[in-house]
Amino acid sequence: MSFHVLVPDHVHQSAIDILRSQNGIRVSAPGKLDRADLLDAVADAHALIIRSGVSADAELLATAKELRVIARAGVGVDNVDLAAATGRGVLVMNTPGGNTISTAEYTLGLMLALARHIPQGHASLAAGRWDRKLFGGIELRGKTLGIIGLGRIGGAIAQRAQAFEMIVVAHDPYLPPEIAQDLAVPLLSLDAVYAQADFLTLHALITDKTRGMINADSIARMKEGLRIINAARGALINEADLADALQSGRVAGAALDVYAQEPPAPDNPLLGLPNVIHTPHLAASTADAQVTVAVEAAQLIVDYLLEGVAANVCNPEILS
Ligand code: MLT
Repeated sequence: MSFHVLVPDHVHQSAIDILRSQNGIRVSAPGKLDRADLLDAVADAHALIIRSGVSADAELLATAKELRVIARAGVGVDNVDLAAATGRGVLVMNTPGGNTISTAEYTLGLMLALARHIPQGHASLAAGRWDRKLFGGIELRGKTLGIIGLGRIGGAIAQRAQAFEMIVVAHDPYLPPEIAQDLAVPLLSLDAVYAQADFLTLHALITDKTRGMINADSIARMKEGLRIINAARGALINEADLADALQSGRVAGAALDVYAQEPPAPDNPLLGLPNVIHTPHLAASTADAQVTVAVEAAQLIVDYLLEGVAANVCNPEILS
């Protein structure tokens, strides 16, 4: 039997090469498909490799009658309907370590850009102005960085922020305390982090508790004039509330790489605010990370389809 692996998104060529080198695997890698073509293409697929741009929802899973496994080339599986996948016996796996450093470095980049108005300075000079007074910034040294979610990415950010002589505190109700101790990062209550942070960076998963956690109510409990960075998931933020707080100056600035809806609608209230830096979900988009996650995802598929070995399983209940 030959397994059909569909790669309906831009995944690094090294994944395709690994899959094509296997006997018993047939690959189609058409690149990014529109929804109708995607639903056609999944009909006879046994496996999928996806990035965040493909929604493996209940409709897709119902159409993909032969599907056995989805590998997510990346961390977040919020674009996969895990319950529907489990109900249909489809294993979902991710590659959690592959883009940690890229995302951590990008977050530091956003924080520096926010502190020093680097994109605004660039845009101003590119438009022919020489505004040295307008873009005075602040140092990171001595400022407090609050990290919501001290997992792999949060931990890598903490180490890099400490090298900038920042005071780093975190909130993470799931983290074993010894990991925070090793990082020399105190674990505090959410409100204590909100009250202390000059910069707040979000690295939490989307759950019923975290969806919209940055809103008018929580912002009111944050330090006046803090700066917020989000390179995790847009749905952590109530965008209208954050836009209000940025306009009033209650929040001094925000650097956003992710949005509740991607791409954001043209009337998203955050777009174009002078104290907001926005980029189009680029944190994991380095050559290094894309090779690593692609190779890991391809290997997960090969091991599962050809050897029956499963790793990094996001719906483990399926195995029982
Ligand atoms: C991830 O979840 O790994 C990142 O958001 C990157 C991506 O989706 O490509």
